Amino acid sequence: MNYRHIFHAGNFADVFKHVVLSLLLKSLHKKETPFCYLDTHAGASRYDLSSAAAQKTGEYRDGIKRLWNNSSIPEVADYLAAVRALNDADSLRYYPGSPRVARFFLRPQDRAVLFELQPEECTHLKNEFAGDRQVLVQGQDGYAGLKALLPPKERRGLVLIDPPYESDKEFEQVIDGLRIAHARWDTGMYALWYPIKGRPPVERFHRMLVATGIRKILLAEFSPYPEDSGFRLNGCGMVVINPAWKLDETLQSVSSILLERLRQHPAARAAVTWLVPE
Ligand SMILES: C[S@@+](CC[C@H](N)C(=O)[O-])C[C@H]1O[C@@H](n2cnc3c(N)ncnc32)[C@H](O)[C@@H]1O
Repeated sequence: MNYRHIFHAGNFADVFKHVVLSLLLKSLHKKETPFCYLDTHAGASRYDLSSAAAQKTGEYRDGIKRLWNNSSIPEVADYLAAVRALNDADSLRYYPGSPRVARFFLRPQDRAVLFELQPEECTHLKNEFAGDRQVLVQGQDGYAGLKALLPPKERRGLVLIDPPYESDKEFEQVIDGLRIAHARWDTGMYALWYPIKGRPPVERFHRMLVATGIRKILLAEFSPYPEDSGFRLNGCGMVVINPAWKLDETLQSVSSILLERLRQHPAARAAVTWLVPE
């Protein structure tokens, strides 16, 4: 487990993932009944963009930095409000990880359970939410955690699965985790992040998803770079299972707007498609 998210915090992939996450959580506000948010790979939750690690890669400059002063995009206003909630006035210093973004959308009746296996990251996470009675942090494997907790007592909510993909095996692990989770709770909403380095591994992953037999699978893909270099992160995708009604249309328009702000090349692309319909 060498992965540290601080090197990538606030990059284009984080922005896309967290904008989608914000939209999914917002869709859960349509009903007053409580929901539960489960984050299998939570990370540290708050990232200092002025730190040596973040400055070393500078990835946030082609991500959140490009959007920060652009409050004229109504579709990303809630997401930007979640980022602003961590910062003073107009200066961008801290970037929220998925748990902090999600916390912004919890109402008093909602709760979150966060899993983080890496001890140091988990300590940061525990400190971040110390005393917060709506948030439970667990220093354990996120897939095992899902198995133990699903279905949540609220019977409404969202599971985010966002592993580091340090090895190619992670694609198989994600599919196994999803299959087990869905068998326990098939009405929950699921969001699963995946990297796009080239098309062949992504198409293989899509075939594995179809083979699970799970229905209502939406794909939102976002690639600011051409997808032909296997050595860098060219783009990323979010698998969304059981999205709210019309979320496909919203994601389509938001992705196009984000692509205009974050594109790195004329061959950049964003696409929202149903992999498996209802
Ligand atoms: C991509 S980062 C998470 C980023 C976070 N979800 C966000 O959007 O801000 C992946 C995290 O998963 C943690 N991790 C790796 N394997 C894990 C496992 N089996 N269970 C729980 N956490 C794990 C890593 O330590 C790392 O902090």
